[in-house]
Amino acid sequence: MNAHRTPWDAIRRRIYVAWLNRRRGVQVSPSVYFGRGATIQTGSDGCAFGGRVAIAESVTFSDGVIIATYGGSVEIGANVYVGPYCVLYGHGGLTIGRDTMIGAHTVIIPANHGFARVDIPIAAQPLTREGITIGEDVWIGSGCRVLDGVRIGRGAVIGAGSVVTQDIEAYGVAYGVPARPVRNRAAAIMTALLPDD
Ligand SMILES: CC(C)(COP(=O)(O)OP(=O)(O)OC[C@H]1O[C@@H](n2cnc3c(N)ncnc32)[C@H](O)[C@@H]1OP(=O)(O)O)[C@@H](O)C(=O)NCCC(=O)NCCS
Repeated sequence: MNAHRTPWDAIRRRIYVAWLNRRRGVQVSPSVYFGRGATIQTGSDGCAFGGRVAIAESVTFSDGVIIATYGGSVEIGANVYVGPYCVLYGHGGLTIGRDTMIGAHTVIIPANHGFARVDIPIAAQPLTREGITIGEDVWIGSGCRVLDGVRIGRGAVIGAGSVVTQDIEAYGVAYGVPARPVRNRAAAIMTALLPDD
C-alpha cells in the first residue's frame, strides 16, 4: 500500500505527526498514515478539551477520519485500519486492539447525554462516560455506531450498518439495529473439527 503513496504524502504526514507529538498527552508513532483531512483533535468547536492519545505503529487513518478526545483517552494498537470519514471519540475512554479494521463512516461514542430532567436543556445535563473497549483483530463493517459501555471481544465481526449497544463476545458475529449475535467464529471452527457420529 505504501508504494502507491507519493513523496508529498510522506512529507505532509511527517510534518503533521511531528506537530501532533508536540502536544501534551499526544503520542503518535511516526509510521501512522493520515489520509486527506484526517485529524486528531484534543479540542474542537472552539474549545480545548484536553485528553490523551496513543497511536501505535502502522495505523492507517483514511481520508476524513476524526479522532476527538473530548477530555478522554483514545488508544489504538498497531496495524489498525480506520476507514474514510469515521469519527472516534474519547470521552470515557476508547481502546482499540491491534489489527482491527473499522469500515467507512463508523462512529464510536464512549459517552451519552443525560436527559432525565425536562426543566433544563439536554446539553446542560451531565454526560455519562463508561468507555468502550474493542479487542484485537475485530472487523467492524461500514456505517456502524458503537455506543458507550460496550466491549467487543477479540476477533469479533460486526456487520455493516449495525448499532452496537451491548457487549459482543470474542469471535462473535453480530449485526443489526441493535446488533444481535448470530454465531461465533471459534465455535463454528470447533464444530467443523469435531468428528461426525
Ligand atoms: C455480516 C457480514 C460480515 C456477513 O455475515 P454472514 O453471517 O456471513 O452473513 P450472510 O451473508 O450469510 O447473511 C446472513 C443473513 O444476515 C443478513 N445480513 C448480512 N449482513 C447483514 C448486516 N450487516 N445487517 C443486517 N443483516 C445482515 C443477510 O441478509 C442474511 O439474511 P437472510 O438469512 O434473511 O437471507 C456482512 O454481511 C457485512 O455486513 N459485511 C460488512 C461489509 C463492510 O462494511 N465492509 C467494509 C470494508 S472494511
